[in-house]
Amino acid sequence: MRRIIAGNWKMNGGPGSVAAYAAALRAALMNARLIVCPPFPLLPGFAAALAGSLVELGAQDCHASSSGAHTGDVSAVLLKEIGASHVILGHSERRANHSESNAVVNGKVEAALAAGLVPIVCVGETEEQRDAGEAEDVVRTQLTHSLPAGFAGVVAYEPVWSIGTGKTPSEADVAAMHGAIRAALVTQFSASGAAIPILYGGSVKPGNAAALLGLPEVGGALVGGASLNAADFLAIAAAAPKD
Ligand code: PGA
Repeated sequence: MRRIIAGNWKMNGGPGSVAAYAAALRAALMNARLIVCPPFPLLPGFAAALAGSLVELGAQDCHASSSGAHTGDVSAVLLKEIGASHVILGHSERRANHSESNAVVNGKVEAALAAGLVPIVCVGETEEQRDAGEAEDVVRTQLTHSLPAGFAGVVAYEPVWSIGTGKTPSEADVAAMHGAIRAALVTQFSASGAAIPILYGGSVKPGNAAALLGLPEVGGALVGGASLNAADFLAIAAAAPKD
């Protein structure tokens, strides 16, 4: 299966960063599926700059309602209309900074699916939880409560302590967690659970991408800091196995 390499720009970039970045991605011959997730205001510019290419576009959040009195929020319906195909939901920074519970994430995932977007739902443990031996239980609970019935999207395993820190779990720990997530998805969704891509996220760089992307059940990467540089983002994608 072609690996999915999604770039989460977070609150970075500006109108001046779109054209050259989009051109670099368009010019690359990629074996992986590329998804760029810039801040909301850059989505229309990216949609225009990437039109006709295979590069896909994602947002970093959406509201659970399709419209209404929700100042400052953006609906999945609008994201779809302006050219997004994906939306990152339940990122640990939103869970922490905006108190997003699993139930809140679940509502947003429902809205994304109803609007025809592919949700990329993030799960992952804190360092304290891993040290206490609770990592798999925490992630299983997040999956059970964040993913609605009939979920058809992508899961991203992002250990909170690995995000933006340069620290990654051992290859054995990544493989063990992805195996546990696969088992949980099959339990939760029976046959369709086997086909849900599971991305790894947390300090993915050109230098560690090949090792991480080659692990069992790693269907791709959700890349933060390294996605801001087109050359680094493309180097990560180029490291994806070709099978
Ligand atoms: P990072 O971020 O690659 O900068 O660690 C990953 C993420 O938060 O998705």
